[in-house]
Amino acid sequence: MEHKHHGKSSAKFLDSDEILSELNLNGNETFLDAGCGDGYISKKAIEKYLPEGKVYAVDLYSESIIELKSFVDENDIDNLIPVEADITKTIQGVDDESVDVVLMLNVFHGFKESGQREDVINELKRIIKSDGKIAIMEFKPIEMTFGPPIDVRISHIELEKIFNDYGLKKTYLTVDIGSDIGETKSHYLIIFEKE
Ligand SMILES: C[S@@+](CC[C@H](N)C(=O)[O-])C[C@H]1O[C@@H](n2cnc3c(N)ncnc32)[C@H](O)[C@@H]1O
Repeated sequence: MEHKHHGKSSAKFLDSDEILSELNLNGNETFLDAGCGDGYISKKAIEKYLPEGKVYAVDLYSESIIELKSFVDENDIDNLIPVEADITKTIQGVDDESVDVVLMLNVFHGFKESGQREDVINELKRIIKSDGKIAIMEFKPIEMTFGPPIDVRISHIELEKIFNDYGLKKTYLTVDIGSDIGETKSHYLIIFEKE
């Protein structure tokens, strides 16, 4: 089964500044938004966090990419590059070891059902620099009124084990990010680097 959720956006419940400020960008990195959806993170990244950098906004849903291309053309932006591609395959136009930071926001859980976890991790590993980072932000596996069913969610502990098997080690974790859910927050953000 393929991973879908085309056209969904986290903009209504996740604040782009909260997420991007967690990544400690210095302003000139190459950044890739893997499964960018409507691109709200990519747009904010280029506008505020990466004035000298470059952002690839990648999704396989062509309508999102067409809209992002119009946005880029209308606003004459040359360092935001919308790419229609499947991140479980080779992302054409993105070279080996060329990306400083990949962000995958509310996307990874979808590869559980599709059985494509290995493919996506290998592709992200291919594109990041030797000191590059893969930041994964996901729904905690707890009851809340939004997000995917509990049984497809993945805990940060399980996620870490999976990435460790591919030679990626955790270098950062926060469990205090996202929307307020009672006494806790809806998400965690975990960063991996090559060992
Ligand atoms: C739940 S949405 C999240 C969108 C965005 N990251 C956000 O949080 O607003 C999941 C996105 O992943 C994209 N997606 C799913 N599988 C993909 C794949 N194999 N390659 C590229 N994009 C994919 C979908 O088209 C969709 O836009």
